[in-house]
Amino acid sequence: MSHGSDGFWTDKVVMITGASSGIGKGLALEIAARGGNLGLLARREDLLAAIVEEVRALGIKAVFATADVRDAQAVREAADRFRRELGPIDILIANAGIGTADHAVRLTPEHAAKIININVLGAVNSVAAVLPEMVECGHGRLVAISSLAAYRGLAKSAAYCASKAAVSAYFESLRIDLRHTGVAVTTIHPGFIKTALTAGRAAKMPYLMELDTGVKKIVAAIEKEKKTYAFPWQLATIVRASMLMPAAMYDWIAARNSFRE
Ligand SMILES: NC(=O)c1ccc[n+]([C@@H]2O[C@H](COP(=O)([O-])OP(=O)(O)OC[C@H]3O[C@@H](n4cnc5c(N)ncnc54)[C@H](OP(=O)(O)O)[C@@H]3O)[C@@H](O)[C@H]2O)c1
Repeated sequence: MSHGSDGFWTDKVVMITGASSGIGKGLALEIAARGGNLGLLARREDLLAAIVEEVRALGIKAVFATADVRDAQAVREAADRFRRELGPIDILIANAGIGTADHAVRLTPEHAAKIININVLGAVNSVAAVLPEMVECGHGRLVAISSLAAYRGLAKSAAYCASKAAVSAYFESLRIDLRHTGVAVTTIHPGFIKTALTAGRAAKMPYLMELDTGVKKIVAAIEKEKKTYAFPWQLATIVRASMLMPAAMYDWIAARNSFRE
């Protein structure tokens, strides 16, 4: 079993939301392989149970709890269970999220509310379930899985882009408030990674990454205790350059390159 850089993960307790599939599951398996203990949260019990069984076979302590991240009380009860069974939570990875590909004309307020409730308030609830205890013991790290979609509006992604912009801003404010508390913040801005969220997408997905590649980059950024990390570098550079563009130029390029269907 490899234990990451300098045993960074060894015996750490890591809570991951949205751990039943995709990036969350990939992070769980990679962190377990590096010696971290896991508290896994999502709604699909059978998938979580299978992951827990797989990592326990590696000698890792792992517990799962089923909860909807929109339910603050249920998320807190899950975190309480992880603390009881595994010890204090060292790292939260707020990863649970859903995507969308609705054109503005078809985007209903109900669907927009669902995306924002899961992606934004779900992350808020997850932070609330661990932060008081982290501040109390003067130690911890909050990791947000935001997106390169946080930086500018993309076609057919109004609610998703708004949700990820909110997540990034929320965690940036937390990072500033939490200086001198011993609790650090890492915000991850991934580009396109092959998961259920991107599967079957008709639109162009430049620099689409294999799940394993994306997961290893996220794990390495946490090990390096980065404040923010955007990848892959090619797409992150394009996105950063687009932030300097005037709106008319950005609209022309964004409409021509409809990266999300
Ligand atoms: N894939 C990409 O290209 C990409 C790029 C940038 C950012 N991201 C972000 O990465 C995160 C993970 O996405 P993914 O690509 O791995 O998609 P995924 O395979 O669909 O995984 C999403 C995870 O979130 C969980 N989830 C969804 N709604 C939930 C809820 N209400 N309560 C609790 N858990 C919930 C799902 O579990 P249950 O259904 O079992 O609850 C699942 O484990 C998302 O925040 C996404 O925005 C993805």
